[in-house]
Amino acid sequence: MKCETCEECETCDNQPGYRASMQITAVVNQKGGVGKTTTTINLGGALAELGRRVLLIDLDPQGHLTEALQLSEAPDKRNLAGILTGAWTGSVEEIIVPYSTPGSGRLDVIVTTLEMFTVGRELDRLRAREERLDRVLAPLKDLYDHCLIDCPPALDILTDNALTAADGVLIPVQAEDSTLRALRLLLAQIDALESELRRTPLTLHGMVVSMLDRGAGGQARSNIGRSVINALEGLPLPIVATVPRGVPISEAWRYGRTVTDYAPDSEHATEFRTLAAVLDKASA
Ligand SMILES: Nc1ncnc2c1ncn2[C@@H]1O[C@H](COP(=O)(O)OP(=O)(O)O)[C@@H](O)[C@H]1O
Ligand SMILES: [Mg+2]
Repeated sequence: MKCETCEECETCDNQPGYRASMQITAVVNQKGGVGKTTTTINLGGALAELGRRVLLIDLDPQGHLTEALQLSEAPDKRNLAGILTGAWTGSVEEIIVPYSTPGSGRLDVIVTTLEMFTVGRELDRLRAREERLDRVLAPLKDLYDHCLIDCPPALDILTDNALTAADGVLIPVQAEDSTLRALRLLLAQIDALESELRRTPLTLHGMVVSMLDRGAGGQARSNIGRSVINALEGLPLPIVATVPRGVPISEAWRYGRTVTDYAPDSEHATEFRTLAAVLDKASA
């Protein structure tokens, strides 16, 4: 994209929205099925629509992000697992797959591979095992504005790598009772990692309430849903977006598209655009 200010370079620090360093956000919650992959894909789409250069990382060995974007798994060795363990020593740029170029932005992906299922065991044997992803991503700092990491549903070494590499976290949650205990465990893990490893604390961007079954007035339909939302609102962690359960999200997933592209006028697309603006501003 051409710089809008000096019109001479591709990207420079005169350009509105240009940041000298990629902001890395871990989309994290050790609970499965809470909307991490959906948030990563659609927030990525909304950021790219804003003109940002966005890299998505499928860190979950189950590979739902790779599958949802209808991308092929990476080949042997020359992949995320290989580069994390040192089995492959090429450049990280070689394992990036272009997905789309909406407007002036860009959406690229580091896809999963079957070896991600065993990478945790291999990382356990290595030095600085929590810092491997941070080192892998370092050469990309000037090539992207945002990197979103789709974390696995576990507080494991892969999630620790994401939290160590990240500048901030987004926590997708559902309006159900088990959410509060999961949040306590996650925040304790972040605290423990911070005191052990990190130089600067992670920015807790907040929670994304996913798959909300809405009733009249846009509130949660069930009593339990409403009481959990009340409890979440009482936490010192903001709710930065609320995404209702809806067909546009499932259909976009089925057709390998982001919801901002597949159903641009849906309330779901609007919600992800609002979230993109929050994240973009927070990291500017
Ligand atoms: N707002 C939504 N409306 C409808 N289906 C959704 C919505 N958000 C997520 N889903 C679906 O719920 C399932 C779990 O979401 P996912 O993002 O994969 O969670 P996680 O990554 O935390 O396991 C997926 O099949 C996804 O398509
Ligand atoms: Mg997932």
